[in-house]
Amino acid sequence: MSTTPTREDRFSFGLWTVGWQARDPFGDATRPARDPVESVHRLAELGAYGVSFHDDDLIPFGSADPVRDGHIKRFRAALDETGLVVPMVTTNLFTHPVFKDGAFTSNDRDIRRFALRKTLRNLDLAAELGASTYVFWGGREGSEVDAGKDVAAALDRYREALDLLAQYVLDRGLGLRFALEPKPNEPRGDILLPTIGHALAFISTLEHAEMVGVNPEVGHEQMSNLNYVHGVAQALWQGKLFHIDLNGQHGPKFDQDLVFGHGDLLGAFFLVDLLEHGPPSGGPGYQGPRHFDYKPMRTEDSAGVWASAAANMRTYLLLRQRARAFRADPEVAEALAASRVGELAMPTLAPGESHRELLADRGAFEEFDVEAAATRGYGYAHLDQLAVEHALGAR
Ligand code: GCO
Ligand code: MN
Ligand code: MN
Repeated sequence: MSTTPTREDRFSFGLWTVGWQARDPFGDATRPARDPVESVHRLAELGAYGVSFHDDDLIPFGSADPVRDGHIKRFRAALDETGLVVPMVTTNLFTHPVFKDGAFTSNDRDIRRFALRKTLRNLDLAAELGASTYVFWGGREGSEVDAGKDVAAALDRYREALDLLAQYVLDRGLGLRFALEPKPNEPRGDILLPTIGHALAFISTLEHAEMVGVNPEVGHEQMSNLNYVHGVAQALWQGKLFHIDLNGQHGPKFDQDLVFGHGDLLGAFFLVDLLEHGPPSGGPGYQGPRHFDYKPMRTEDSAGVWASAAANMRTYLLLRQRARAFRADPEVAEALAASRVGELAMPTLAPGESHRELLADRGAFEEFDVEAAATRGYGYAHLDQLAVEHALGAR
C-alpha cells in the first residue's frame, strides 16, 4: 500500500490551484503568474494524472481567436508530452466585473446571454480535450440585498441556462455530464444553491436531470457547519456524485481552501473511507477523479506551492491506508456488530409485509419491551476510539 501517488490513483488538480497568485481582499499577489504548461509538467512529475481548468485559466479573458488557438495548442502539447488528461473543465463566470451581479442569474438579460455564449464556446473546448465532466460553480449567482434579487426568477433563469446547455451537449454529442458545485457565500453575501441538499433538489427540476449531478467541496459544506461526509453519502445514494473538490477547512469561517486533511482530519478519514469503500451496507464508492481544489497558502513561495500539492496526494493516500486498516481490523468488525451498524441495512418490514401485518404484530408494540430497548447502549464511543486510533496510526 504505497503512499507515492501513481496515475492509477487518479489525482487531479485545477490549474487555478497551483497557479493562484495569492491575491486576497487585503493584499496583493505574493507569487508571480505561473505558465499552465509548467503546472502540467510539475503536476505530472508529482504523480497526478489529470488537470482541470476554467477557460480564463488557460486563455486570458477577451483573447482574439488566433491567440486563443495558440494557448490551446501549447497546452495540448504539454498534455501529450506528459500524458496528463483533462477529466473536467469549467467556466469562469465570476472574475470579470461584468459578472458582478451574476452570470446565468444576473438581473441584466444581456449579461445572461453573454454568459451562455461564453459557456457554449468552452463546452466545445472541454469535449475536444476529452473531458467527461463540466462543473458549474455559481460564485456570483446570489445577492447581498434580499430586495435586489427575485430568487424564484433567478432559479427559473438558472434552470433555463442549464436546460439550454444540456440540450447543446446532447445535440452536439459532446458526451459531457454537468456537476453543480454548492457554496453558501463568498464572494456573494448569499449564493444560490448554497448546499448539496439545495443543489440536489434543484437538479430534480431540470429537463435533463439525468445528466446533472454535484461537485461538492469539503470546505463549502463545512462553512455552513454541515457534515460533509453525510452530504457526500447522500449524493452517492442518489447516484449524483459526479465529481468532487477535496480540500481542508477549519469550521464555519471564510473559504480557506487548505490542503486536503489540513482541517477536519477525522472527517477526511471518514470521507476517504466512504469514497474508497462505499457505504458499509454496500453500493458503490466514488469512481471519478480525486480532484483537489485548494489554494496554496499566501505565505508560500514556489517551493511551498509544490510541497502543498504533493501534501494533498500523500494525505489522501495515508488516509486510504488507515481506512483500509480500519475496515480490516477484527476488533472494528466486533465493535460495528455491537453497535448494530449492519442491522440498519435490514428492511424494517418483512418481505411482503404491509401496515396490516405490522398492526397485527403484538411483538412490535403491545408486547415490545420498550424499557429494555431504551436501556441498551450502542457502544459508539468505543467504535469512534477505534477509528481515531486507526487514523492516528496507533493500531
Ligand atoms: C471556491 C470554488 C472554486 C470553484 C472553481 C470551479 O473555492 O470557492 O471551489 O474554486 O471550485 O472555481 O469553478
Ligand atoms: Mn473553496
Ligand atoms: Mn471548488
